[in-house]
Amino acid sequence: MAANTIQDAVAPPRCAVHGLKKRYGVVKALRGITVSFEPGEVHAILGENGAGKSTLMKILAGAEAQDEGAVHLDGQEANYQSVKEANANGVAIVFQELSLFPELDVLSNLFLGREITTFGTVNRQKMMQAATPVLEELGLAVPLDALVSDIPLHERQLLEIAKALLIQTRVLILDEPTSSLSANETERLFRVIRNLRGRGVTILLVSHRLEEISAIADTVTVLRDGEHVKTVPIGSTTMSQLVTDMIGKPAGDIPFLETFVPTEDSPRLSVRGLSSAKLKDVSLDVHQGEVFGIAGLEDAGVQEFLYTVFGLAKSTSGEMYFPDGLGQPASVREAVRRRIALVPADRRRDGLMLDDSVFENVTSVRAGVTKGFGRWLRRAEMNRAATASLTELQVKYGSLNTPVRNLSGGNQQKIVLAKWLQVNPSTVLLDDPTRGVDLGAKLEIYEVIRNLAANGCTVLFNSSELEEYRHLCKRVAIFRRGRISKVLYGSQVSEHNILHEMNA
Ligand SMILES: Nc1ncnc2c1ncn2[C@@H]1O[C@H](COP(=O)(O)OP(=O)(O)OP(=O)(O)O)[C@@H](O)[C@H]1O
Ligand SMILES: [Mg+2]
Repeated sequence: MAANTIQDAVAPPRCAVHGLKKRYGVVKALRGITVSFEPGEVHAILGENGAGKSTLMKILAGAEAQDEGAVHLDGQEANYQSVKEANANGVAIVFQELSLFPELDVLSNLFLGREITTFGTVNRQKMMQAATPVLEELGLAVPLDALVSDIPLHERQLLEIAKALLIQTRVLILDEPTSSLSANETERLFRVIRNLRGRGVTILLVSHRLEEISAIADTVTVLRDGEHVKTVPIGSTTMSQLVTDMIGKPAGDIPFLETFVPTEDSPRLSVRGLSSAKLKDVSLDVHQGEVFGIAGLEDAGVQEFLYTVFGLAKSTSGEMYFPDGLGQPASVREAVRRRIALVPADRRRDGLMLDDSVFENVTSVRAGVTKGFGRWLRRAEMNRAATASLTELQVKYGSLNTPVRNLSGGNQQKIVLAKWLQVNPSTVLLDDPTRGVDLGAKLEIYEVIRNLAANGCTVLFNSSELEEYRHLCKRVAIFRRGRISKVLYGSQVSEHNILHEMNA
């Protein structure tokens, strides 16, 4: 490409890709991408689920090899064979799917493969000295000797970021780093990003959260179906134009929820005085047909509440009744039999069997309940029901035999939801169900949730994206230190009020 400014003529871009192509079997993940990234810029990469964002990032970071095309870093060819080699050359990546080792402690994870040694032995003291300021900057107060398996998802996400920050980088790649972070954690991360930008680091940021992009990005690149759509300075476009670029047509508005009016005697999920190590005297009633929001900061007890209602976490006192008149399920098997569903936030740990096919995953819970009389349920029928849910949720999955591991992050998330739709649930506990899902699919998921409610399902809903409550819930209970501190109704349900009450 001809240089068209003096700047271009003097210095090559920090990083440039030219004609990059990558296929996975019949899937063309990248169809010839040419784009460049400058030093000292935050460059956002946007696109729908499956557009090729992660594939591009992985190639830059040495985690995947392109089929065709070139990658240059500061004018030099940069086809790294491994993430380690990329790290050594100043390219660090935080993967979309966390890659920590749960059985190792925090410190070991931070320095895995790059341990600081003295006379051939690992020097934990030195590693601690290096790690502490980075963790502090991110506001991550986790003991360095804690096992990663024992820390919550949002802290694991911050830990991945800390690990990348320990490398001297020229290019820092963050693939959906904020998908499970709170607003405060995101703000701290953005401060760190701005510092790095000030030092001339190129930051590539993949995110589905457009308000974040407008807050921090200097430049945006849009990909669609493996093609480069555009690269523009953020100031020269609008969010609605970017959405149009991503989906290839103008987006509709999000329809608002009809007013929900429960009748006094309708069956409900009733929780009375529920207490445990992390919950204190929680009481609430959720009516059949209602989407009831629950919100709180990371450790406020929201997730614990969902897990306790589902029967996976134990309570010390209190009681609960489901619309079927029965209490807390004694096991997952019982929950499934009673058509109580939990869509967990951590899809890789709790939601999916990664090496199994789309079909195996989507039908797994239903196959579990239908044992015994399952032989009468023909595979063809399960196939039909699975395909219907996958189509409804707009999942890009190739064939039913594709291993779930090969799906893009957002499409994996949709599989978790599809799997629970198979059991025709009567109560659904949703823990951040749209994590990493693109805008079009989010709207589809809202529609699915509303339809569940309209058909008499009782829904509890938690989200890390606060504007979602307004689209779905007439009531939102705010959790603070294990208690419900406030319930917002109707027009009180706004991002602003929720954030205010969570932090009050
Ligand atoms: N290892 C793999 N094997 C087979 N197909 C793959 C593999 N990795 C990615 N793909 C396919 O390549 C396409 C692009 O995937 P990619 O992960 O780059 O999407 P993405 O833009 O990051 O989406 P998301 O927003 O959902 O994370 C998808 O159709 C995906 O299914
Ligand atoms: Mg991705």
